[in-house]
Amino acid sequence: MPLTAENGFLPQLYEIPGEIVKKTKMMIISYPGNPVTALADEAFFSEVISFAKKNEIMVVHDFAYSELIFDDHPQISFMSIPGAKEVGIEFNSLSKTFNMAGCRIGYAVGNRKALNILGTLKSHIDYGVFILSKSCRDGANFQSFAAIRTG
Ligand SMILES: Cc1ncc(COP(=O)(O)O)c(C=O)c1O
Repeated sequence: MPLTAENGFLPQLYEIPGEIVKKTKMMIISYPGNPVTALADEAFFSEVISFAKKNEIMVVHDFAYSELIFDDHPQISFMSIPGAKEVGIEFNSLSKTFNMAGCRIGYAVGNRKALNILGTLKSHIDYGVFILSKSCRDGANFQSFAAIRTG
């Protein structure tokens, strides 16, 4: 689906061909976006929820840039929109907000069934977070540690 400046880099959901929609199991969206910094508003997220319900599609919102919003734009979590939990989950990462790119530490919230399946999958392919060094612990990344400990 092309994302164009005219549409604010938001997909025009009802222009997606029917045969594609029929085959679709999951839709990934990410706002604030990378690389064009596009933002979704509540109306768009509500449309995504209706579209997902109508077509039985699971929504994954990648919210990695949740804190990187300027000019007083509102910071909108997909999960804050009514109905979102019924259709999807939202990921975030410590990479951007806590300067921990490469550490591969993130979290997901949302639909219980989807999270349980994800938990089962991850328990088979991952085996823990790396041990952070003492210099890191005592220094600049203190905030990251606080985030890991307190969520
Ligand atoms: C939109 C988006 N989501 C996720 C990631 C990756 O996050 P992580 O470092 O936790 O794998 C990136 C990293 O560049 C990103 O741009």
